[in-house]
Amino acid sequence: MTVTILTGDARDMLATLPAASIDLTVTSPPYDNLRKYGGYSFDFEAIAAELYRVTKPGGVVVWVVGDATVKGSETGTSFRQALHFKDVCGFSLHDTMIYRKMGCGACGSNYAYFQQFEYMFVLSKGRPKTVNRLGAGRFGKKSGGSRVRANGALHRSKTLYVPDGDREVMRGNVWDILAGNNGDDKVAHPARFPEQLAADHIASWSAPGDTVLDPFLGSGTTAKMADSLGRHCVGIELNPDYADLARGRLGLAAIPQLEDAD
Ligand SMILES: C[S@@+](CC[C@H](N)C(=O)[O-])C[C@H]1O[C@@H](n2cnc3c(N)ncnc32)[C@H](O)[C@@H]1O
Repeated sequence: MTVTILTGDARDMLATLPAASIDLTVTSPPYDNLRKYGGYSFDFEAIAAELYRVTKPGGVVVWVVGDATVKGSETGTSFRQALHFKDVCGFSLHDTMIYRKMGCGACGSNYAYFQQFEYMFVLSKGRPKTVNRLGAGRFGKKSGGSRVRANGALHRSKTLYVPDGDREVMRGNVWDILAGNNGDDKVAHPARFPEQLAADHIASWSAPGDTVLDPFLGSGTTAKMADSLGRHCVGIELNPDYADLARGRLGLAAIPQLEDAD
C-alpha cells in the first residue's frame, strides 16, 4: 500500500490533491487552541471546503473533536464545525458518535461532571458507499422485543438481544476506547488518538485498496492503521517534527529539514 506524507499547511496541501480522490478521511484537528503544536493554526472553513472537494461521492469524513471551556462556558466550536460541514459544504451529518475515553481518570472542572468523551462526527458526501458495522464483542441471541411507534401502536422488533446466544451484538454509536498508553506505539505527540479509534473507523467506512486521508496527521496513527488494513494513505502535517515522527512510525525515511542540510 502507498503511504504519502506531505509536510505543510492542510489548506495548501489539500489543494494539490485531485477532486474526488479520497474514500475516507479520519482526522482530529487542533481543538480551540487547547494545544499549540509549535504555534500552528488552521483555516477551518477553507479546509472544510477542500475536504468536500477531494472526497469521492459516497465517501466519508470522520471529524474527531472536543471543546475548550472558556470563561465558564464550553465554546461549542465542535457543533459549529459539524453544522458548517452540513449547511455550507454539503456533507450529510451521517452520525454523531461519541468516543468515550476509558481509563483516563478524572479530569475537568470541579463544577461540572468530569469530561470523558469527544465527538466523532461522521460526515458523508451523499449516502456512504461502504458501511461495515462492527460487532460489540458480546454475544447474545435475537429475541422478539417490541417498541411503541409515534402513533402509539406496538411494533414488534427483531433487533433485541438476550444474553447467551452465539450472535455478536452490534455496536452502538458510543465507542468505549482505552485512551493513553494501551499497547500502541509510545510516541512523543501530545494529542495522539488511539490506534483502535482509527482502525475501527477505517474498517467501518472504507474497503481494502481505498485511499484514506488524514490532513492533521500528527504522529501518523491514521496512516499506520490504514497501511496495516490494506488501504492507501495520504497524511498532511504542518509541524515537520511530527511529520518525521509519523514517517518513523511508518518506516519511511525522514525528510531533511533546511536548517539540518549542510
Ligand atoms: C490533534 S493533533 C492530531 C493527532 C493525530 N490524530 C495522532 O494520532 O497523532 C492535530 C495535529 O494537527 C497539526 N496541525 C495544526 N495546524 C495544522 C495545519 N494548518 N495543517 C496541517 N496540520 C496542522 C498539529 O501540528 C497536530 O499535530
